[in-house]
Amino acid sequence: MSEDTLAVTDNRTGRTHQIPIEDGMIRASALRQITTGEDGPGLLSFDPALTATASCRSAITYIDGDAGILRYRGYPIDQLAERSTFLEVAYLLINGELPTPDQLAEFTNTIVHHTFVHENVKEFIGGFHHDAHPMGILVGTVGALSTFYPEAKNFTEPVNRRLQMARLIAKMPTLAAFAFRHSRGLPYVYPNNDLSYAGNFSSMMWKMSGRYDPNPVIEHALDVLFILHADHEQNCSTHAMRAVGSSRVDPYCAAAAALAALYGPLHGGANEQVLRMLREIGSTDAVASFVERVKKGECRLMGFGHRVYKNYDPRAKVVRQLAEDVFAVTGLNPLLEVAVELEQTALADDYFISRKLYPNVDFYTGLIYQAMGFPVEMFTGLFAIGRMPGWLAQWEEALLDPEQKITRPRQIYTGAPERPYVTMDKRIHTDHDLVVPPSKPIGGD
Ligand code: CMC
Repeated sequence: MSEDTLAVTDNRTGRTHQIPIEDGMIRASALRQITTGEDGPGLLSFDPALTATASCRSAITYIDGDAGILRYRGYPIDQLAERSTFLEVAYLLINGELPTPDQLAEFTNTIVHHTFVHENVKEFIGGFHHDAHPMGILVGTVGALSTFYPEAKNFTEPVNRRLQMARLIAKMPTLAAFAFRHSRGLPYVYPNNDLSYAGNFSSMMWKMSGRYDPNPVIEHALDVLFILHADHEQNCSTHAMRAVGSSRVDPYCAAAAALAALYGPLHGGANEQVLRMLREIGSTDAVASFVERVKKGECRLMGFGHRVYKNYDPRAKVVRQLAEDVFAVTGLNPLLEVAVELEQTALADDYFISRKLYPNVDFYTGLIYQAMGFPVEMFTGLFAIGRMPGWLAQWEEALLDPEQKITRPRQIYTGAPERPYVTMDKRIHTDHDLVVPPSKPIGGD
């Protein structure tokens, strides 16, 4: 008997099945051979939230959550953050290797030439309510790009596919900055292709009249923050990108789905929630009582905990260092004191120690973004700009993977057995009926 098998005895039938083990996993489909009868359905594996299921093979990002390791294409995140630029990292994620000077120049040139958006996109953004959340605007406008580039449907053609990928990376800062300017009632600032990726984004965000020169420290910090967010293997939004992309919809629609997933407060929305939480705590004196509320389960300590990291998030370490550089230029964020006290209190408390809850990337990024002048509503959009190359690399990898097909999980049905249709006059009201919101008068709020 091969050592690379799992012998499973089904006590219902007394039969033993040999399940092959490869790369430290068994194929869930191998369980289908385990049945109670000749024609019965095979065994399923049940894994809500996919906490113990590998959904793909991937050569892009490596995480060792226990050791606090994150690598893109084999390169440690701290080295990339220290020595690379965001566009180099985007190239690396998509192509698998760091670019040569010529390759980087060509890639940069391509990105720069796609930073503008169709004028109709401006009108489209203009239709959003003045206080629309920038992430809502991004979900809508990135999805809408699909209608501007109908040829994106032919993404199996490699040159066409790479063009759409370049467009998405190039247009994200433009759309995010336009969303911000719309919320402020400010005129849109067109891309300045003489600036770096991060510098151009700053210009579209902050430029008023006259010349705009980005502060080099802030520009560099923004670039590093984009690098830190560029990929994170099979997280919720990347899974959404792959799953929605598996239907063979164009990449703009798949990216809109990924953006929607990122918007949630347990994912990319956490950086915004961290800042709101720090504001609510207000001062170091209130930290201990807040931690007690967390321990009672009344709320979560946002920016703490991670599905994979059971150690200090390696991105959080880089962010802490970066915070010092930024605060040296912008002045200290008064909430930093609260954040440091909160981190220290939590890290010394058995509730967090026993559950291996450490600060994640979002714990300090909000403070930096705020010091840079970004309103809290923009924080998740900043994350999204950084994550776009990762989503695209993962989407392309899935597309080219012969093992992948349309994502379609199974379920364990728990509803009613077959029953005859009940006519309206025979229906009986029960207490567990669906909750229906009260109807509002027409023209109500
Ligand atoms: N505050 C308090 N308790 C927590 C927290 C937290 N932030 N995170 C996890 N726990 C507790 C949780 O209550 C549970 O306790 P118990 O075993 O007594 O029921 C235990 O720790 C395990 O938590 P879980 O919810 O099963 O863990 P998960 O892997 O499903 O959740 C998480 C991961 C990131 C959603 C969660 O840690 C969380 O909600 N953190 C706060 C939100 C946040 O910072 N999100 C950003 C994640 S990093 C960037 C990104 O991915 O976008």
